[in-house]
Amino acid sequence: MPATRQNYQEDVAGRANVDDTPELLAYYDELDDLNAGALWTVANKIEPWEPQSSSVPMLWRYNDLRDHVMRSVDLVTPEKAGRRVIYLNNPGRTDVAAAVGWLYSGLQVMHPGERASAHRHSASALRFIMEGSGAYTIVDGHKMTLGRNDFVLTPNGTWHEHGVDEGGSPCIWQDGLDIPFVNAMEANFYQVHPDLGQAVGYVVDDMTKTWGNPGLTPVGGAWEKAYSPMFKYEWEPTYEALSKYAVTTDGSPFDGVMMNYINPVTAGPVMQTIGASMQMLRPGEATKAHRHTGSYLYQVAKGSGHSIINGQRFDWQERDIFCVPSWAWHEHANASDRDDACLFCFNDLPVMKALGLYREEAFGDNGGNQPLCA
Ligand SMILES: [Fe+2]
Ligand SMILES: [Fe+2]
Repeated sequence: MPATRQNYQEDVAGRANVDDTPELLAYYDELDDLNAGALWTVANKIEPWEPQSSSVPMLWRYNDLRDHVMRSVDLVTPEKAGRRVIYLNNPGRTDVAAAVGWLYSGLQVMHPGERASAHRHSASALRFIMEGSGAYTIVDGHKMTLGRNDFVLTPNGTWHEHGVDEGGSPCIWQDGLDIPFVNAMEANFYQVHPDLGQAVGYVVDDMTKTWGNPGLTPVGGAWEKAYSPMFKYEWEPTYEALSKYAVTTDGSPFDGVMMNYINPVTAGPVMQTIGASMQMLRPGEATKAHRHTGSYLYQVAKGSGHSIINGQRFDWQERDIFCVPSWAWHEHANASDRDDACLFCFNDLPVMKALGLYREEAFGDNGGNQPLCA
């Protein structure tokens, strides 16, 4: 019988605070043998005062990763790998292969003429194009051509495959999925397409041409599914929208000029479990700090700057990826006083909000900015 046992005591009224005695320790052992336990020995651990993210604030520098991503082309074929991806492994989340919280992310590379086999899964997915030309994605028979900073959806349950045209150049994109979340829900199914590829059944880019027109919705266009019919959100109109909006607004004190990618039918998030946004930090802009529940993965779409996350400074430039774990203080700053900087972000906000778990607060002290940790 152990002399002591970690029982997470807290000397606070209303919290568990039971001293070990020989009799209690023997009692706990008896409960262990019955695959049971006394709640007061674990209550303070499993019910923290506020969210305790096991994710570590991280920055993945594209300069460090790019050569390794390219090298995977020589090491494995997309046919053998299924998907040739280098994933981002948060040191606090290696057990579930998450980049942050319950979100997975990776960098996928494809050479001209390569094609990954079609499949579908319960996890929802997106990709954000980092470099190269000639990339395409096919989602349920809808083919989309992809360029730099384009954002594409492959929602839960849709057949999808990716490739690069013969005449293109090597392409790298960021994948983002809710695989860890769907696994945590024990609800993940995966299927390989019986033909390993899909026939294209529509005009190329039809969904963006139909649903992606500002302030207009197609008459007779019906859409009942829970995700956005606008599978691809192109960079140029996104940047133009931010630039226009920037003229009219002071922006958010925490995020600068920020717009959400939306499902044009509902004006809600693009998919049921994953939301996404693009934000512009104007020349010289530095935001105040705040924190909120949910997990956030950023990619620098344009410019350079830094973010301070839980007191730690991360300097970023174009294509770098960084994460903000749930309930971590964060603020962003543009390094340039001439050019704007843009941050793409995807997150699990739709889950947080749908389940009533979203909370947000501003950093009150120090003029609204975090002191840096030593
Ligand atoms: Fe997939
Ligand atoms: Fe935030």
